[in-house]
Amino acid sequence: MRAPIIRSKSELQNLTRGWRQAGEVIGVVPTMGALHDGHLSLVAAAKEGSDRVIVTIFVNPKQFNDPKDLENYPRTENEDARKLERFEIDAIYVPGPDQIYPEGFDTTVSVSGVADELEGEKRPGHFDGVATVVTKLFTQTMAEKAFFGEKDYQQLQVVTQLSRDLDLGVEVVGCPTIREEDGLAMSSRNLLLSDRARVRAPRLNEAMERAAERIVAGEPVETVLAEARAEILAAEFNDVEYLELRSIGTLKPVTDGKLPARLLAAAPLAGVRLIDNIAVG
Ligand code: PAF
Repeated sequence: MRAPIIRSKSELQNLTRGWRQAGEVIGVVPTMGALHDGHLSLVAAAKEGSDRVIVTIFVNPKQFNDPKDLENYPRTENEDARKLERFEIDAIYVPGPDQIYPEGFDTTVSVSGVADELEGEKRPGHFDGVATVVTKLFTQTMAEKAFFGEKDYQQLQVVTQLSRDLDLGVEVVGCPTIREEDGLAMSSRNLLLSDRARVRAPRLNEAMERAAERIVAGEPVETVLAEARAEILAAEFNDVEYLELRSIGTLKPVTDGKLPARLLAAAPLAGVRLIDNIAVG
């Protein structure tokens, strides 16, 4: 059954108000579309944990610091709606920009601490854009639960902090990263990889897994990460923007090798910026 596609905030809230009044728990899966199995695993978790499920599709201009990246972002609404059919969700919310940022909109939600480094440093303004749109999507959908992938591990921490700090009343549920058979983390951006780049892309995760094993075995973190960086560059990645061991949740640098921790990386390959993260220990 195809879920209704709702494009206006007022129409959405007519529905969600009724659900809340009936005591139903609304779960939201915020997405920017181009849905893959990673997103669909979030929808499955939302179905399991909520009475009503809304998937939102909105390519949020405020979180793109590169206009080319925004322009190239894949948009596949019909295909997305088709992929969602088997989940029998309650609504697909596809707001136009005016429903999220109407004329005169002048507020930015900004999280610090956990948002400051890694992606926050490499993509200035990105997490302000994410925090602002997620706040709007939470309030517009009236959700009590929201489902995010660990693939964007830092985003998951930022949204958790945001919901807690602003008393938004939304429980943020993190779900495991879904990977292709060769280990590449699923991402809408993978659609932009050329055939040649697609073959090389899993080398990022391979290098990270090897580094994680060596760190767990007690080898010095700095040496291991320097060698992993060299491996990634040897696989024709253009750069390694960061490859860092950080503490779980707070994402503070791990200087004493204390585990468990999280290994996070960003590396562009043939013009497509890939990010990944794995648990260590
Ligand atoms: O992860 C994403 O796709 C986006 O950052 C999100 C959470 C939908 C906000 O635009």
